[in-house]
Amino acid sequence: MEKINKIVLAYSGGLDTSVAIKWLKDKYGAEIIAYCANVGQEDVESWDQIEEKGYKTGASKVYIDNLQEEFVNEYIFKAVKAGVKYEGKYPLATALSRPLISKKMVDIARKHGADAVAHGCTGKGNDQVRFEVSFRALEPDLKIIAPVRVWEFKTRNEEIEYAKAHNIPVTATKESPYSIDSNLWGISIECGVLEDPWCEPPADAYFWTTAPEEAPAEPEYITISFEEGIPVKLDGVAHNPVELIKKLNKIGAKHGVGRVDMVENRLVGIKSREIYEAPAATIILEAHQHLEDLNLDRETLHFKYGISQKYSELVYYGLWHSPLREALDAFIDETQKVVTGDVRVKLYRGKATVVGRKSPYSQYQIKLATYDEDDIFDHSSAEGFIKLWGLPTQVSNQVIKSVRK
Ligand code: ARG
Repeated sequence: MEKINKIVLAYSGGLDTSVAIKWLKDKYGAEIIAYCANVGQEDVESWDQIEEKGYKTGASKVYIDNLQEEFVNEYIFKAVKAGVKYEGKYPLATALSRPLISKKMVDIARKHGADAVAHGCTGKGNDQVRFEVSFRALEPDLKIIAPVRVWEFKTRNEEIEYAKAHNIPVTATKESPYSIDSNLWGISIECGVLEDPWCEPPADAYFWTTAPEEAPAEPEYITISFEEGIPVKLDGVAHNPVELIKKLNKIGAKHGVGRVDMVENRLVGIKSREIYEAPAATIILEAHQHLEDLNLDRETLHFKYGISQKYSELVYYGLWHSPLREALDAFIDETQKVVTGDVRVKLYRGKATVVGRKSPYSQYQIKLATYDEDDIFDHSSAEGFIKLWGLPTQVSNQVIKSVRK
């Protein structure tokens, strides 16, 4: 077996990555640096406990790194400006966090002179791809180890047995029937009964949101202000980006907003049934899109639909650290220079509906749009315009008809 001296492991404090500390240490006789990223996940016991547990399990150094601000400014807000949802539905919370965590792990590996990085992903998911592609893009000389893909444990119970035998503290929480991953931008839920795509997700499969049918009977109206494509104010009050997202997650969750239930195409070739809760993402993306409808010219707006789809694939496929993503950001930033203004959103029983929009850059001209006497639209130009617009279609139909008769 190749000699490895120091490994930086993506560590969450959960069973898999706790067992991985000990397993890697024994297998390679290597020093383990456990790296735990705080991207706003809410399912953590306490950061102090995770840190303590990491040291107890045998890590030589445990990092608890608060990445929330960087996550929002450098990843989430780029995704907002790009308007991305994978396959039109999934706002990509999990997918967006991976390239950031990978980048930080590479930095730590360089700082400590580590020769390998490791993660706790299975061999069936997208996350392993996102980590490993990012590691290779940023530091191709690092060796990559994926313990869960290769170790001897077949079941969770075998891992628990191993943990007990090696005095690894296992949190005594009841095992969830689901596999979940969360951060500021949303929570991803899979496995258990959800594997049957015909089965409606039971109430306990949702962690953040009130069921729409149990949400308040009164709608709530909020106003989000954007500056160059980025949400900056809620109801006229400026918030720092992390707080703004947390606030919108709370308000949206109360109204049952942001549930997604879908069958998606994983990069590794399978379809899988996943559910998501992403209240803030749903509200912000919806509001942002409506502001673009108001402020972008038709050609840019339509062209950007294609860019959004491509961008969402790049994020989902683990290609964040790629020249194409950066090039698309440059294009998108150019388009966002006019995406400034206010959007009024109505939250009601599972829905976030845009009901108003205004902006100094609005390209909506009442004098051109109106049907009343203030109308300045030149109706007489319509006739000639339509003749020429329809000319190719007229000619092609005539030609085809004459050949086929
Ligand atoms: N399917 C989603 C994605 O590929 C979510 C994966 C979430 N991971 C988890 N352990 N539940 O981004």
